[in-house]
Amino acid sequence: MTAHDERDSTLRWGVLGATSYIATHLIPAITATHGCALTAVASRPERAAAAAELGRAHGATVHPDYRALIADPAVDAVYIPLPNTQHVDWTLRALEAGKHVLVEKPMAMDEEDCARIEKAAEAASRTVMEAFMYRFHPQQRRAAEILASGKIGELRGVRASFAFRIESGSGNIRLDAALGGGATWDVGCYAVDVPLFFFGRAPGQVSAHFSSRPGLAVDTSAVATMDFGQGHFAVVDYSIDYGPRAAYELQGTRGTLMVRNAWAMDGEDGVVTVLTEDGVHEETVPSANHYQLQVEAFAAAVRDGAPAPVPLADSRRTARVGRAFVASAAAGGAAVVTSAQETEGR
Ligand SMILES: NC(=O)c1ccc[n+]([C@@H]2O[C@H](COP(=O)([O-])OP(=O)(O)OC[C@H]3O[C@@H](n4cnc5c(N)ncnc54)[C@H](OP(=O)(O)O)[C@@H]3O)[C@@H](O)[C@H]2O)c1
Repeated sequence: MTAHDERDSTLRWGVLGATSYIATHLIPAITATHGCALTAVASRPERAAAAAELGRAHGATVHPDYRALIADPAVDAVYIPLPNTQHVDWTLRALEAGKHVLVEKPMAMDEEDCARIEKAAEAASRTVMEAFMYRFHPQQRRAAEILASGKIGELRGVRASFAFRIESGSGNIRLDAALGGGATWDVGCYAVDVPLFFFGRAPGQVSAHFSSRPGLAVDTSAVATMDFGQGHFAVVDYSIDYGPRAAYELQGTRGTLMVRNAWAMDGEDGVVTVLTEDGVHEETVPSANHYQLQVEAFAAAVRDGAPAPVPLADSRRTARVGRAFVASAAAGGAAVVTSAQETEGR
């Protein structure tokens, strides 16, 4: 379908993998969004029962494997919540089959893979977007508005801290190196994305330190600095060893803005706190389902033939910086991440 054909029709979604997370978050977001429908689901053949249950619950076609879903002409858009090492391959396959793609973070663990995806999306004239749901919560927009208003002055520093604990032996894909596990490519994506989002560019240099829980072959906690040049810095930490945290601070020349729950979920209000010489001002941003807002924004971009609301350039940057964190931690020193593309506009 062209963008014009799609203007008046329903966006029919297919989902790869019957994960518990998608059953409780993304599928309800798809089915609650006007102009979207869940049409098909697929599991790996050995987990056919899980897909069958999901299909039954939503009246969706159940395919025997991911390939069959990708080939289904009744599917317009594919959502990919698979282990990190499978994101690139299935995104490329879906684009080649003419589908739009919403892929979980990280879109790729390498900038070159993001570039391949971008090329494939252009060739297929299809929309592809990395699922950074927190960007769609109104508190994120409010934080950006306050920053743009000049209330906290010029942005000089970002602190971001993201964590949730995963128990050893739980079988969680995040503990499996072969599936792209580790804190960096999981919660680390958010910690990296926040400063890139607010500074609007990648740092020139990073320095990262990783630690691993005994017995695990993945990084489980990390702290890193990012140097954006001319006195602009970010300090981030993230972990799958610690209890939940999803907070960030924007440090300006005249004040500080704090978001203490960047993962605000359904039913939870967002709170944006601003600290200046005038005192502390706390603002409540009413609760919103950022998963649904993400699906709505993606579907609107498909319908209008507009750029994805999380631009591919941002996904390239996240992958590049994540890779630089890994290089820095391995080398025990700073890693340079500057490319000609990113230094433009500094
Ligand atoms: N944005 C968010 O809020 C959010 C939240 C959670 C997760 N995520 C992202 O979603 C992705 C999946 O995370 P998850 O927590 O949903 O993982 P999960 O519960 O383990 O689900 C992953 C799914 O991938 C499929 N899969 C294919 N090959 C697999 C393999 N070798 N081992 C295990 N599963 C395999 C399985 O589906 P079948 O067996 O049914 O085929 C499985 O249900 C990750 O990229 C993660 O970053 C995002």
